[in-house]
Amino acid sequence: MSRMSKHTSPRTGTAVKSASKDYPSWDLLPHQACDLELILNGGFAPLTGFMTWAETEEVRHNKTWRGQFFPMPIQLQVSDSFLEEAGLKKETCGDKKIALRDQEGMLLAILHVSEIYTQANDSKGLAYLAGECQGMTASVHHDFKRLRYSPSSLQSRFKKSGWRRVIGYMTRDPLHQKEVHESTQATGQMKAKLLLSLTAGAIQTEDPAHYARVHAMERVLGRFPPHSTDLALMPLAHKADMDGLLLHAMTLRNYGCTHYMLDERYPDLADSKLDYLRLQKELSQYDHRLGIELVHKTRMVPSQTQDDANELSPADFKRRLEQGLSIPDGFSWPEVLEQMRKIIKPRTEQGFTIFFTGLSGSGKSTIANALLVTLMETGARPITLLDGDIVRKNLSSELGFSKAHRDLNIRRIGYVASEITRHGGVAICAPIAPYAMTRDAVRDMIEPLGGFVEVYVSTSLEVCEKRDRKGLYAKARAGIIKEFTGISDPYEIPENPELSIDTEDMLPDEAVRIVIARLKELGYLTD
Ligand code: ADX
Repeated sequence: MSRMSKHTSPRTGTAVKSASKDYPSWDLLPHQACDLELILNGGFAPLTGFMTWAETEEVRHNKTWRGQFFPMPIQLQVSDSFLEEAGLKKETCGDKKIALRDQEGMLLAILHVSEIYTQANDSKGLAYLAGECQGMTASVHHDFKRLRYSPSSLQSRFKKSGWRRVIGYMTRDPLHQKEVHESTQATGQMKAKLLLSLTAGAIQTEDPAHYARVHAMERVLGRFPPHSTDLALMPLAHKADMDGLLLHAMTLRNYGCTHYMLDERYPDLADSKLDYLRLQKELSQYDHRLGIELVHKTRMVPSQTQDDANELSPADFKRRLEQGLSIPDGFSWPEVLEQMRKIIKPRTEQGFTIFFTGLSGSGKSTIANALLVTLMETGARPITLLDGDIVRKNLSSELGFSKAHRDLNIRRIGYVASEITRHGGVAICAPIAPYAMTRDAVRDMIEPLGGFVEVYVSTSLEVCEKRDRKGLYAKARAGIIKEFTGISDPYEIPENPELSIDTEDMLPDEAVRIVIARLKELGYLTD
């Protein structure tokens, strides 16, 4: 049976599709869509659906699914509100059909629900759906179609090229000279070919780093001997811990690899007691059950003499790129580094957000405006000012000052700032932002995309109230304005801001000078 036959034929497809209009729809989260893709295309064979509670228990204890090896539970978690809408009850056996759709609403599969369960040891009571998946539309990837295969399409590619022994190289980072050297040696000694298996699960299609990473890998491909190496993107969205690595290896087996190798930078070893060598040892114990054999890197490449360049650790490499420093010759290649520099930009080229927070009248807007002008004069990056009062006239014009509305207001500001930061600009935000949790959420949203510099304008309530430029404090004291920050509503003082400024005895120019000095210190601006 061909793997693709799990997809319904076009004729029955149309009938099922029109029937599916009446089924409740679950929009798969990006990582769930990855699992579904591999269930349907045979990448997770023998698995044919999402696991029941008993199956997950069996997999957890024995790494066995219906009598065959399977390294970890593959579950479909859904929200309580979805269960309610769909009229499904927890802890029941179902016979319902659910339409599984991607984030754009495309029908990917029908789930024939066999069970609805909660995890026994899970105090949050999260709900899971189990059942067989009937494929409707193959997942649509608009990025790098040329590098995306189903197991059967990759197997026939191997067959056509006469590749019988293939080592799958598991990685999520582009390779440099050391990794290429090691894997070439391994393939040479084993008389095998090499498949570079790059994990690309749940990627953000608007993230430039994704494209640069794949482009870097394509450049690396050119550094291998001709006709020796191939590259594939794998929609694997699981953590690269022990079980996640076994899952990747099993997927490679299904894609036609006979062996696998593990990039040293790939495993998530942080919360395990294993180091890389012990991990390899543990993994190889599963070779027999997995049906694919681990190639130990160190065994294949006995302690070769490494020069300094090869010893640049991933952290050092990242730091050098961030600081715009040169990379020693012999570590990588220019065409690969060119792509890597797009992934890890020097801070002077990264976008950043300056997030002023503090009471009304503390001086946030004044400093923000003066800072805007000063940065505009230097002309380094495009700049956007998201001042509290101005945002409330436009982006958040319908919002009031309840906690929920303030949070929504700050999250909107954060979202806009994150887009500006992603594109290399500067966002200057100046809302009160009284809640620490919301400020932290904005930080978490922005930090992966560039800099986040929180500036606490710490001018005291007494001073702000004495100034009372807008007359709002008087109104708040008189009870005319309700929920007024500092008077009848809380302000949570930032615990670890990048900078604190008290404007009581300070002119705006001086405050701007301090902010600019801090930005230089953090590396976002140069002298
Ligand atoms: S935030 O809490 O959501 O961050 P934001 O900075 O947007 O507040 O708006 C604060 C501005 O709205 C203040 O500078 C003030 O001019 C005005 N304002 C009106 N009502 C209130 C209120 N109840 N609390 C605080 N500011 C208010």
